[in-house]
Amino acid sequence: VTLTRRYRFSSSHRLHSPALSEAENARLYGKCNNPFGHGHDYVLDVTVGGPLDEATGRVVDLTALDTLIEEQVLGPFEHRNLNREVPAFAGVVPTTENLAAEIGRRLEGAWAAAFNGSGTRLQRIRIEETKRNSFALEL
Ligand code: NI
Repeated sequence: VTLTRRYRFSSSHRLHSPALSEAENARLYGKCNNPFGHGHDYVLDVTVGGPLDEATGRVVDLTALDTLIEEQVLGPFEHRNLNREVPAFAGVVPTTENLAAEIGRRLEGAWAAAFNGSGTRLQRIRIEETKRNSFALEL
């Protein structure tokens, strides 16, 4: 059984790669290259799987999952400028692809402590950046 739980957070960013020229950045990233940045209302779907807990009949302790997401994602990212306020993006373009990878690293790093011995696994992260764009990371 898997469970997917949805979270939302809003952050701002600017997509600009120092490896590319101004013109290439503008062409590649479009409005997301705006020098003063802009915000997105991200939708984050976290999918977990594992054996059902016999006592609770559930696949994951939702309180533990919410606490983990709050500590690792919502707290650090909500209403932040990703380029300037999240150290992982100091030298990495904060595309949603890279955002998914960073969230994956954070969750995997803290997973064992949050779900100590329960067999709950992190399976998938999906982030909706706009109504047209969503990105998935299979773990
Ligand atoms: Ni953008």
